[in-house]
Formats: sequence, C-alpha cells, structure tokens
Amino acid sequence: NDLIEQRSWTPQYHFYKPNHWINDPNGLFFLNGTYHLFFQLNPDDVVWGNMHWGHATSDDLINWQHQPIALYAEPEGLGYIFSGGAIVDKNNTSGFAKNGETPIVATFTQQSKDETQVQSIAYSLDEGKSFTVYDQNPVIPNPGLKDFRDPKVTWYEKGQFWIKTVVAGQCIHIYKSNDLKTWHKLSEFGHKIGAHGGVWECPDLFPLICSDTDTERWVLIISINPGGPNGGSATQYFIGDFDGEKFVSQDEQIRWLDYGTDCYAGITWDNTPNIKHSRTYIAWMSNWQYANNTPDNTWRGAMTLLRTMYLKKAEQSYYLLTPSAVKLPQDTVRLQYCLSKEQPISVPEAYSLECDISLTQGNIALVWKNDCNEQFRLEIDADTQSVTADRTKAGFTDKGFDSVIKMPLSKHECTNLQLEIFVDECSIELFFNNGAHCITALVFPKQAFSQLHIDQSSKKESLENLKITKYTK
Ligand code: FRU
Repeated sequence: NDLIEQRSWTPQYHFYKPNHWINDPNGLFFLNGTYHLFFQLNPDDVVWGNMHWGHATSDDLINWQHQPIALYAEPEGLGYIFSGGAIVDKNNTSGFAKNGETPIVATFTQQSKDETQVQSIAYSLDEGKSFTVYDQNPVIPNPGLKDFRDPKVTWYEKGQFWIKTVVAGQCIHIYKSNDLKTWHKLSEFGHKIGAHGGVWECPDLFPLICSDTDTERWVLIISINPGGPNGGSATQYFIGDFDGEKFVSQDEQIRWLDYGTDCYAGITWDNTPNIKHSRTYIAWMSNWQYANNTPDNTWRGAMTLLRTMYLKKAEQSYYLLTPSAVKLPQDTVRLQYCLSKEQPISVPEAYSLECDISLTQGNIALVWKNDCNEQFRLEIDADTQSVTADRTKAGFTDKGFDSVIKMPLSKHECTNLQLEIFVDECSIELFFNNGAHCITALVFPKQAFSQLHIDQSSKKESLENLKITKYTK
C-alpha cells in the first residue's frame, strides 16, 4: 500500500480537475473557435456531493484552461446543479439579450435537499464567463417522478423550435419550446426498447447525415446505470427518426457506444463545424460502481478523449463510428516497431499506438506489464469472435473492477482490424476499426506499464508496423 500512496495517476492528456471531484460533462458549446466544457463538480471534496457546474475551455481539444465555477448550488433554494446542456441562442429566441449580445442558455436539473428534481435554466451574455440563473425557475416542474433529470436541448430546424429530452426513470420525455422558457411535452420513448438493467441518464437526441448515402437519421444517446454490458454504468444508443413529435427507433437491437466500463454520461457539442455530418462527443471516464473509491486522492474523475461521431450504413440499418477526435501532437516522438513473442518492446507512460492486425483464425494476446507483477491483457480471438480486456491484475480491485471486459467482434472484422490505442497514466482507450467498436477502461497499476508483450498463448506470433506516438507536453 505504500507504493499506492506514493504513486500519482494524474492524467497527462485527459481532462481532470486537481483537488476536486468531477463527473459528467455538461453544457457543451462551441464559440469563436473555443470549446467550452462544463462538468459536474464538487468544489469542496474528492467524492461526489454538493454539485456545481465547473467550467474549462480549449482550442485544441487536449489542453484545457480551468475557468471559474459557472453555476453555484442553491441548497436553500431549488437545489444542487445536476447535469444538462447549453446552446448558443444566436437569434435571441429567449429574449435574454437586451443589447445585441448572443445569449448562451444553460439547461440543467436542480435537485433539492429533499431530492426533488426539476428543470431549470440560466443564461450568459459574456460567452459563458458568467451565468445568471433565471428568476422564474423551474421551467419544467417535477411530474411526480423520483428520477427526472439531465435535460439536453437542440434546435429542430424543420419545425423551427427547440426540443428538449429529459430522462424519466427508464424512458425519456421529449418537450418543445419557442423561447427555452415555456415547454410542452410531445412524447415519450423507451418503454419497451433498449437495455433496462438500470436507470436511464443523460439523453442526447440529434440529427446526423450519413455521408455515404446522404440520408439523415436521428441519433439518441442514453447512459444507463447499472446494466452496462460489462457491469455498472455504460452508454447505449438508438438510431431512428424524429418527426417533430415522436422518436422511432430503426429496430430493436441494443447498441453500445463503448463496451468498456469507463465511458459514461457522455453528450455532444451542438454547434461544432460540420455539425450536420459529424458530432463531437465527450464522456466521464468512470463507473458509478467504484467512482468514489478510485486510488488517487489528489483528484477524482477525468473525461474521455473527445470523439467524433459519424453515421454509417450497414446492410439493413445505420450505426455509429466514434473514432478519437484527438491525435497526439505531431512534434512528439513517433516510432515504428516490430513486436514479437521473443521481442517485447518498451513503451512510454503516455502515448498512442496504432497497428493493423489480420487474424483469419486463432488469437492474439497483447500484454502490458510492469515490474510489480501487474498487467493489462487484451486478447482478440477470431475463433470465438470476441475481444477480452482483462484488468483484474491492473492494480485496483474494487467491486466492478475485478471483472473481465468482453466485446463481440465478427470474423470479417478480425481479418481486417485497425486498432488505435490511447494510453495515459490511469486509462486505456481502444478504438477498433475507426471507432466502430470502443473499449475504455481505467487502470491503476503501482507503476506505469513499461513493457508490451505478445503473450505466449498467442497463435499469432508477431505484429509489424506498430506506430507509437509519445505524448510530451
Ligand atoms: C450521471 C448522473 C446524472 C446526474 C448527475 C449528478 O452520472 O447521475 O444523472 O444529473 O450524475 O451528479
């Protein structure tokens, strides 16, 4: 345990907040070249509680500047500030601007001391630097539900009005508004479809055009906790149509945005460039099973890398590609390697790794090791058509951390697999075939994993052209 106390797992290129607890990303908006990220923040501690909205900005998607707290909890009033979104109200539909400014309107849940959840708004007239809480909150009162939260708003171009999704237990409610203040309920979705192993959280509903077919579909992202494919918190998505009133899914298949244990409560930016064809997504890199107990006490909670979201067509249906939106800076050292059973390689502490794997049969097992007998093992098996990511010996063994992550992968995909892996001090993000499948997992080894091996149990003996890009600030 001495070692655990000495080691710091501070991320090198993932967003976190020193000395604080953070969870969900909130209020994402993009303005004048700057990405704004708000997030669930406990200003006083490194465990969940006393929720405020923290704020940070970035121009390059990797380096973030911390900004003052954006929204303060009102424990004596409507309550703590839970998750939600923000939009740039460029036509001043809200009427909050009196002198030609462009209002930013934040939409969020407030939870009072007696745990009643209502939907509120606040506006900024200085590009998100400061917010004024609307004096007639709540804009949607609680309809008698225990779980009623996480409003996300987007502009519905066809109907020229705003739509808002709110989770209500294990379904969503869709609302419409002309001014972001008065909301009318349109419909519900989710009663008999999707995964239901836990409560639904953090919805995000938006249109996306598939460039290959030039067809528009609507995407609905839903976080679920517990009930993820590998335990605890996870993110599912639906693709379908929205007609201005109802969302209808294309089919009944359950789709996971990330099979890992640590990609949760993610939402997208509403107004980034090329918004009709792609969206930028970010999620909280943890899991409610163990989020409050992870080893590093100097901070707790980080975000995943930003991911770009594209719509793709399969034979009968559409699905999402979510590759990393981030490439590590070009001036970092880039090395090419051959890896074999006889020849493990040394790897840095923070880096990305790219390689192509062709596996028509059998398996390949990559093992990251350190000198403390710890490891992270990734196995791809063409015979069982599956991927396993095993972190049971990766340092931390709290409940939920002690299970092996499993993901299906078709024979066809194994034959022609392109892999991109981002390793940071306490995380591994795996992108298969340009983000057609993802696995995000936290790890807390006592020492960084400094060697990469091909395990003796591998049928495939070597890998060529491994590209490693080392991250240096
Ligand atoms: C998701 C979540 C949200 C809620 C917030 C509270 O992780 O539970 O549903 O608004 O966190 O911090």
